[in-house]
Amino acid sequence: MEAPSFLSEQDFTADLSDHTKNILGLQLPTDPRWVDLASISLQDLLTDHAYCEQKAATTCIALIQHYNQKTELVYALSPIVTEEWGHFRLVLNELKRRNLTLGMQRKDVYVNKLLAFQKQGGHPDDRFLDKLLTMALIEARSCERFKRLSEGLQDAYFRQFYRRFMESEAGHYTLFIELAEQYIDKNKVKARWKEWLQYEAEVMQQLEVRGDRIH
Ligand SMILES: [Fe+2]
Ligand SMILES: [Fe+2]
Repeated sequence: MEAPSFLSEQDFTADLSDHTKNILGLQLPTDPRWVDLASISLQDLLTDHAYCEQKAATTCIALIQHYNQKTELVYALSPIVTEEWGHFRLVLNELKRRNLTLGMQRKDVYVNKLLAFQKQGGHPDDRFLDKLLTMALIEARSCERFKRLSEGLQDAYFRQFYRRFMESEAGHYTLFIELAEQYIDKNKVKARWKEWLQYEAEVMQQLEVRGDRIH
């Protein structure tokens, strides 16, 4: 399977805003076995996906509440809340269409490991930056996973179903990087993003490959 363009070697000397789409730079592509495993765990995958969308919406709400003074952020994230909630509803509809039900929310090992990398002390800007980069990373990895599903599943309807999500999440990761650059020095954003990418690759390497999980 051909690797997404953003998995290619990134050039960190380039300006992030101009090149985010090309240099997203996830360091580790998804294990090719994952799509096959996912295709046989449909109900669990859809359930997990539904909660991922729900959490994306609630995290954006939390960011708006916490950073209400940052007007550009408030206005940029408000429509994302609506969009993510729309994604949640799309997944719910898909469960219904297949006579499946929304299962229990599971422990999100991937996201918990990312949260553990966020700076807890120090300057508030550093914590703010980490929150935005965490979101950018989750969006990026989700986008990569949806791309895998949209290319690798047998069912044509489902390939199209995930393609829609892939396109949407691609726009989101760039938004979070661009937001970071609006408030924080670009070189600082770039340097920290590089650290996040390296850390995320280590997380991915440690995680069990499970078809019932988006991550
Ligand atoms: Fe989404
Ligand atoms: Fe998203």
